[in-house]
Amino acid sequence: MANKINKTTENTSEENNHSDDFDGIKELHNPAPNWIILVFLATIGFSLLYAVRYFGFPDNKKDQASEYAQSSAEFDKTHSQLPQGGGSTATVSQEELITSGAQLFATKGCIACHGLKGEGNAVGPNLTDNFWLNGCSQENLIHMISEGKPEKGMTPFKTMLTQDEIKSLSVFILKKLVGSNPPNGKAPQGVECK
Ligand code: HEC
Repeated sequence: MANKINKTTENTSEENNHSDDFDGIKELHNPAPNWIILVFLATIGFSLLYAVRYFGFPDNKKDQASEYAQSSAEFDKTHSQLPQGGGSTATVSQEELITSGAQLFATKGCIACHGLKGEGNAVGPNLTDNFWLNGCSQENLIHMISEGKPEKGMTPFKTMLTQDEIKSLSVFILKKLVGSNPPNGKAPQGVECK
């Protein structure tokens, strides 16, 4: 039976066939078909290209870590220069920040607790005077808006607003609300900021 199948020359005799005979199941020594060899070589070729591209070898800066470093550097370049005073190199101008901050202030619920003009009401403090319960730096404001102070009734907004939106709100409050002296301002609370 087995003789019908094409076998390689060294295994034609029954005697030295033992190592290729497993319980009557014979291992033939046919060469692998060319197409399989081609596919095999192609996978080796692909793996080399893949290693070069994906692991960034030899140091071509195309690996994941370098791509991450590059894109975060780009992000930092466009986002690190939000104005704190004169920001002529900033990609977003202070005016734009104030405009978007004003919009957010009116639409994201701040007015419910801080009044239409930030003058304060029974719930929230006046944001137009220069007295602060939690510090008056831009960082303090950003922290208050993102983390809130739930035990005192200030909502944490970090899941509802982006970091940029929170920043523009802080700029709007510091540059537009503070000192605007609206009617019916709530009495100052906290420490005066010099
Ligand atoms: C549910 C009511 C509520 C909402 C909504 C709310 N706030 Fe407040 N906010 C408060 C209260 C109350 C405080 C005072 C917390 C305290 O006692 O320290 C406060 C404090 C602050 C402070 C710090 C003031 C200080 O004197 O330290 C800032 C800044 C502020 N809010 C901004 C905002 C902005 C911007 C929004 C909208 C995105 C907003 N708040 C929405 C209730 C609110």
